Amino acid sequence: MNILITGGAGFIGSHVVRQFVTKYPNYNIFNLDALTYAGNLENLKDLEQAQNYVFIKGDITDEKFINKLFKGHRFSSVIHLAAESHVDRSIKDPLAFAKTNVLGTMVLLNAFKNLWQDNWQGKRFYHVSTDEVYGSLGKTGLFTETTAYDPNSPYSASKASSDHFVRAYGETYGMPYVISNCSNNYGPNHFPEKLIPLFINNIINNKPLPVYGNGLFTRDWLYVKDHAVAIDLAFHKGKNHETYNIGGFNEWTNISLVKLLCKLMDDKLQRPTGTSEGLITYVKDRPGHDLRYAIDATKIRKDLGWEPSLKFEEGLEITIDWYLKNTEWLKNVTSGAYQQYYKKQYN
Ligand code: NAD
Ligand code: TYD
Repeated sequence: MNILITGGAGFIGSHVVRQFVTKYPNYNIFNLDALTYAGNLENLKDLEQAQNYVFIKGDITDEKFINKLFKGHRFSSVIHLAAESHVDRSIKDPLAFAKTNVLGTMVLLNAFKNLWQDNWQGKRFYHVSTDEVYGSLGKTGLFTETTAYDPNSPYSASKASSDHFVRAYGETYGMPYVISNCSNNYGPNHFPEKLIPLFINNIINNKPLPVYGNGLFTRDWLYVKDHAVAIDLAFHKGKNHETYNIGGFNEWTNISLVKLLCKLMDDKLQRPTGTSEGLITYVKDRPGHDLRYAIDATKIRKDLGWEPSLKFEEGLEITIDWYLKNTEWLKNVTSGAYQQYYKKQYN
């Protein structure tokens, strides 16, 4: 079985690739990634010699290349993660998000349809999406699989659009698909533009911790390897034409999360208690900032028996340890273009 995973050199993708390559030696896993600023082959160093793993550098928006690739390898399934993924970048450059997330997804869907539309038996297009498509919750309530889409940022609008196209290919061409919408992930290999790895890196370097607005925005955090396991389960056991919400049952306001992170980092770095908290700096809010995300993951728990394996404090500690150990990785990804991004975003 030839399976294409897109975006496998990124944060979540690298954990999904590892999950599949190591657990299913009889599958041939092809990892297609354009290696943008967020893609990093260092994330997959341990798999380089694996017999059932191939890396392909390429762009999902390149229609000719994608069609040729699909004809050549006849992928029976696609697990699609490649995307532009950072909300702040989408505010500065929305068209890049439409191109990769909408057009790129359509190019893949079309190539898959052209290959299999006469015989969908045993085929599956698995689309990895986000809870941000549902918009923002007030103080109460949870996102379920039937919550209406209501995206607020260019990022979430582009992901919502891609979800709609996947569904449309299912309805129009009978393409077997599964979509999962997951909450905020954290863990090793997370690019330090997102809250947790950015703040870990800044604490290490004694730099200010830029908390947007009043810091009372709430996210539901899930350890990345638990997301990879959920994708594995839903890919193998999920029902065609279904959506599964994946979440951590783990809501934190940004400011309480940051304070916990500061405390753990002071312990790890053997700095006096309160040192890292002293770096907290409230800055201008993000435009269109969603107040609260929280997932009701009852369906995947009940139907597929999935549950998060780690408590947040445990996962956070493993994550901090990983960043403190992998200083070369952190140094490499924060040199060059990262410095320009940082200046533009935070000055
Ligand atoms: P990421 O930014 O770390 O990785 C994205 C990967 O896609 C990178 O390796 C990049 O090189 C690749 N890529 C980008 N454009 C490409 C293109 N045109 N062609 C081929 N490859 C391209 O993202 P992530 O956080 O790992 O997210 C992966 C997926 O999961 C995304 O679809 C995202 O929307 C979704 N998701 C993320 C989260 C989260 O908390 N990070 C939560 C839910 C869902
Ligand atoms: P982020 O990690 O960008 O994920 P998302 O916006 O997709 O949820 O941000 C998580 C939360 O942290 C969000 O409410 C925005 C906030 N945040 C800050 O306060 N400061 C920062 O520097 C960043 C990157 C995020």
